[in-house]
Amino acid sequence: MKGNVIVGQSGGPTAVINSSLAGVYRTAIDRGAKKVYGMRFGIQGLLDEQYVDLSKHIKNDLDVEILKRTPSAFLGTCRYKLPDIHENQDIYVKIFEILDKLNIECFIYIGGNDSMDTIKKLSDYAILMGKSQKFVGVPKTIDNDLALTDHTPGYGSAAKYIATSTKEVIRDGLGFSYKKKLVTIIEIMGRNAGWLTGASALSRGEDCDGPDLIYLPEVPFEIDRFVDRVRKLLEKKDVIVVAISEGIRTAEGKYISEFSAATDYVDAFGHKQLTGSASYLANVINQQVGCKARAVEFSTLQRSAAHLASRVDVNEAFMVGGAAVKAADEGDTGRMVVIDRVSDDPYQSATGIYDVHKIANGEKLVPREWINKEGTYVTEEFIDYVRPLIQGDSPCVMVGGIPRHLYMSSGRGKKGE
Ligand code: F6P
Repeated sequence: MKGNVIVGQSGGPTAVINSSLAGVYRTAIDRGAKKVYGMRFGIQGLLDEQYVDLSKHIKNDLDVEILKRTPSAFLGTCRYKLPDIHENQDIYVKIFEILDKLNIECFIYIGGNDSMDTIKKLSDYAILMGKSQKFVGVPKTIDNDLALTDHTPGYGSAAKYIATSTKEVIRDGLGFSYKKKLVTIIEIMGRNAGWLTGASALSRGEDCDGPDLIYLPEVPFEIDRFVDRVRKLLEKKDVIVVAISEGIRTAEGKYISEFSAATDYVDAFGHKQLTGSASYLANVINQQVGCKARAVEFSTLQRSAAHLASRVDVNEAFMVGGAAVKAADEGDTGRMVVIDRVSDDPYQSATGIYDVHKIANGEKLVPREWINKEGTYVTEEFIDYVRPLIQGDSPCVMVGGIPRHLYMSSGRGKKGE
């Protein structure tokens, strides 16, 4: 590689997004990049010339290993939508001026479906204007909703956390006071896709029955039927655990979270902030059934629990980061690296690459046939699909009894470095 590499992180973070960053860094250095720059706060920060020379922050092999185990976006992230290339060219002129100044050959962006829109637009613009830079995306999202990849880095670790924590919540309930009723409703992220919520079923095993009900956004949610189901279950058992997706909504398309009026925030891509469904439904149960009901929101914990990361996930995240640099260095552009499942037993995967135009802004949902007829649980096929992705652990470097993280001093930083 003759020129330099720049890498950015975008969208919601995960427990292994920095493992992809480490993979990008390591491969770029191995392939002879003179400099590897990191955008601070994604493309939005780059527009303000916020970038760092990564060699000043990742100084040795131990730093690489700690980075792989550090949750949240090491470089900082953004949710920023580039304008259409025919609408506002000034932004593109500015970005390419910065890339030319830094002698960038490969531009790597680690993100989900919205972030791939950035790779799509920048690669289209480069081709239109005869620019030589290559643009390649690295998949990332706990939501697991990217098209054309078997799964996304970040999903396996979040699924492992969800399965483990659901099991612990169930265990907690089982020790609840004698002859008292308790309904616990767990709210899980994932927007319009139920991949994460379905992973709560992995808590089921010989020592745990798993959640009593699981509601995914792929099936319309009816509040009255839900209350009836809970009532019936309470006739048979005292303690019930229900896993719901943050994105469950009525047949008319109204999110249950909208009933709660917890927030009406909408991001640059038009996504409503989905929060509060569990506490709304816990209230409904409390009032209509008259028993104790508790809401548990896994919230940011499910995407930042690096202490419980899946080894498969950490390794695959590293692998896709490296594969993106290799692809860009070999001339690919306007593409995203994907993970292909080679076999289930033993589990093996490999990387592939696809046109980002077929991935950006799309949403891959849980197939209806992987959800039971009543829409209240996932099937064995779903469980068989997820189980290999949560295998193995990735022990953290512990200091003073808690995990050590690699960090960059906070603040927006100065222009460049
Ligand atoms: O897209 C990833 C995700 O974690 C979603 O599951 C969730 O709805 C969203 O991000 C939350 O984003 P934020 O932290 O910006 O509110």
